[in-house]
Amino acid sequence: MKRDIETKEDIKKLVDQFYEFVKADRQIGRFFTVVVAVDWKKHLPKMYSFWEQVIFGSGEFRGNPMATHATIHTKSPLSSEDFEQWLFLFKKNADELFEGLNTELVKQRAESIATVMKLKVVYNHQALHKS
Ligand code: HEM
Repeated sequence: MKRDIETKEDIKKLVDQFYEFVKADRQIGRFFTVVVAVDWKKHLPKMYSFWEQVIFGSGEFRGNPMATHATIHTKSPLSSEDFEQWLFLFKKNADELFEGLNTELVKQRAESIATVMKLKVVYNHQALHKS
């Protein structure tokens, strides 16, 4: 049986493997390798604290995810399908590694953040540029 996400080390494993999938993904990989040349030494620790904050309420995430993704969208438009793919990979990765309440929680939180982000970044941006 798989374990649940319980420690910082578990989050590190979750995040590290997720971005391996993301980088190799035909649909969304290019956002991380071409559109933004992500500095992984900075990005990964930032993502550990982001998810630590989401799951355990601890961690020292400092950032502005909505603004960050709005900026990416101006460089190369993010679509609704891109967000679906991100979420599909996130859930698949979490299920592959872990199971339990925190695993369900992290997938649920990822889904709600992705939904809000998609609405703000994809649709608000479209609305702004139509008027
Ligand atoms: C199509 C979907 C997505 C793409 C292509 C994408 C891409 C990226 C990229 C390229 C960065 C790095 C920016 C940089 O280093 O300057 C980034 C940062 C980040 N992403 Fe995403 N992302 C997506 C969805 C999401 C979702 C759904 C979440 C949360 C559930 C998320 C959370 C974050 C966070 C927390 C950061 C750091 C933000 C900051 O430093 O202010 N991303 N994303």
